[in-house]
Amino acid sequence: MNVDVVLGLQWGDEGKGKIVDYLARQYPVIARFQGGPNAGHSLHFEETSFVLHSVPSGIFRKGTVNIIGNGVVIDPVIFEKECRSLAALGIPVKDRLMISKRAHLILPTHLIIDAASEHAKGASRIGSTLKGISPAYMDKTGRNGIRVGDILTADFLERYKSLKLKHIEFLKQFDYAYDPEQGESKWLEAIDYMRQFKLIDAEYYVNDCLKKNKRVLAEGAQGALLDIDFGSYPYVTSSSTTCAGACIGLGFPPSKVGKVYGIFKAYCTRVGSGPFPTELFNQEGEILRERGKEFGATTGRPRRTGWLDLVTLKYAVTLNGVTDLIMMKADVMDVLETVKIATSYKIQGEKAERVPYDTNISITPVLREFKGWKRDLSGIRREEELPFEFMSYVRFIEDAVGIPIKIISLGPDREQTIIRD
Ligand code: IMO
Ligand code: MG
Repeated sequence: MNVDVVLGLQWGDEGKGKIVDYLARQYPVIARFQGGPNAGHSLHFEETSFVLHSVPSGIFRKGTVNIIGNGVVIDPVIFEKECRSLAALGIPVKDRLMISKRAHLILPTHLIIDAASEHAKGASRIGSTLKGISPAYMDKTGRNGIRVGDILTADFLERYKSLKLKHIEFLKQFDYAYDPEQGESKWLEAIDYMRQFKLIDAEYYVNDCLKKNKRVLAEGAQGALLDIDFGSYPYVTSSSTTCAGACIGLGFPPSKVGKVYGIFKAYCTRVGSGPFPTELFNQEGEILRERGKEFGATTGRPRRTGWLDLVTLKYAVTLNGVTDLIMMKADVMDVLETVKIATSYKIQGEKAERVPYDTNISITPVLREFKGWKRDLSGIRREEELPFEFMSYVRFIEDAVGIPIKIISLGPDREQTIIRD
């Protein structure tokens, strides 16, 4: 058996939560492989809405095992809050969730470093969610980090204090006022709470599942264009968000990658700083933001909006080896007279069909216009009922990318999902 992977193909917020929850019916095991509480995966069903930050989006499905993989960084305080809210909804979260001992912890001082370093960057700030993601991954690769398994050791408190002291030293370079005790007592309480969970060697667990023919679904966070290597550097997150990251973040071999579900919105959004070639600054952009409720699930910030960009979409499909495309939120565009897609770029007067290594330059998208469908798609449940203009939009994307769109999602609810053969 292989691991199927669900990933975002844009700048995050594609709707991974809804799709993982939807697909979870077919998978006994759901595993998050990278990122941390910078993610905000929203789920809606039966009048319930929930935003998950650290816990995999299979948690609402009876009979699933949910794993937080080694590639994830965990803030124990956010984790505790999330799990308590799930338990309050009657979800047996301690039974359904396991955590890799190799996952790294976000310390209170990581949050301070994140804030101090963004502050020091001034106008060139990344627009980080300020959840301590980058400092935690820096400590991981710098070989200073504290791992989940460490919370079970006798000298855990000493390890914590020693890393905290390193952070205080590091913070001296910034002109930034902070309280070194900030958040510490809550963090230590949350560590106690985490000790009640099943802390496991998740790489063995996942590989054992494959041997036993149990299907595993890997859930990505963020998106290909925020990837540490292939995103619009330095305006990226600090982990490998592409398919290869699933192998690293869970410990299964590349030969065991099965289906790769690539999720994209029918338009684009971006939150935080960085290049965005098809960004709209007009009424149409405002319509996408308002109708699409494009406000950050983690930070509440308004998201930047723009047209679908085929140059970056094809790039993301290539990097990930996408086998099945999933298109989200086309219903948001129902009221538009015309919709547009960037088919290539103009860079310094030359046509470009590839993403340049540095996207922090002047890029003009070459746009192709489509007639709007001007119909409410949100109630449609069968492909045959989709309007002709909308299907022309869908087929154009499929032809250009060369991969079929297998699922069309037309609203946040589980029901608003059309599967195509
Ligand atoms: P999900 O999983 C959208 C963005 C931040 C910022 C940059 C770096 O919900 O799709 P970081 O906190 O990682 O230091 O921020 O990445 N970002 C996201 N944008 N969705 C996310 O996750 C994001 N996680 C990080 O806004 O620009
Ligand atoms: Mg998000």
